[in-house]
Amino acid sequence: MPAPLPDVVLTAEQIASFHEHGFLSIPRITSPAEVELLRSTLTRLFTERAGWQEGAQFDLVAGDDDHDSALTQIIQPVNYAPQLRDTQFRANAGAIARQLLGAEASASFEHSILKGAREGAPTPWHQDEAYRAADAFEYDQISIWMPLQDASAERGCLQYIRGSHKRGVLRHRRVNDDPTVHSIETHPDEFDLADAVVCPVPAGGAVIHAGRMIHSAGPNTTDEPRLAYTLAFELPPRPSATVRRFDWNEGVESADIIRRRAWLRRGGVAKEVVRRARYHELYKPRRLAFELRRLAGRRK
Ligand code: NI
Repeated sequence: MPAPLPDVVLTAEQIASFHEHGFLSIPRITSPAEVELLRSTLTRLFTERAGWQEGAQFDLVAGDDDHDSALTQIIQPVNYAPQLRDTQFRANAGAIARQLLGAEASASFEHSILKGAREGAPTPWHQDEAYRAADAFEYDQISIWMPLQDASAERGCLQYIRGSHKRGVLRHRRVNDDPTVHSIETHPDEFDLADAVVCPVPAGGAVIHAGRMIHSAGPNTTDEPRLAYTLAFELPPRPSATVRRFDWNEGVESADIIRRRAWLRRGGVAKEVVRRARYHELYKPRRLAFELRRLAGRRK
């Protein structure tokens, strides 16, 4: 089957609003039928613990020994379910990314988060760019977050700190200063909770935010799990004035990193190279050139 064509176009007002506020909410980015398909596919991946051995599925706020996993993430779910490849969601998200970032925008990353019913833990406040490796580049990136159930404040929709996208990458720390936890959080001295905007979205709608927008999601207190699927896009990296240092990303020994390292050592490297080449379209010379520049600029 051919890849679907985009059927959502942002208006000039929506584009201007995104650049002014750092986020944008849209009521539809895919069809109800595709929402059903994505929900069942991703639910199966979580149930089957797809990618667990590879370190691609893990709890965001607890270690492996904590059995009450309440905030589970799968990195690159498309690696475990080919039906996620050619979706209306992906077609629309790519077109929106090109409208917001420019024609050179390309897919950089994707993930799905399952927030359990009644006990789903909150997602800590953070800037997405603060998760990147410290290196000699700055990134223009956006995330397109689609819930697969109606996301209300009670079910853990996203919240944003007004105007934060215009700031630099702020100080972060590991949650509880625990190097075995995956998630980071923006240092609480860096922002004011009074500036938070709660952003409910219907299933199959989306919120789009810039890479430096401080955001979080509340706990899920409802009887239904909250499943969300995010696609991220970026422009080629820009050289930064100074080499950046994100000390919160140094010396991390989270459970997923330990499992991933072991998997790469057992021969996962070859598989990873093939997956990346496909996902980042490295067969395109311009795209390959960006990736090589990025690798060369990475901090030793
Ligand atoms: Ni985020």
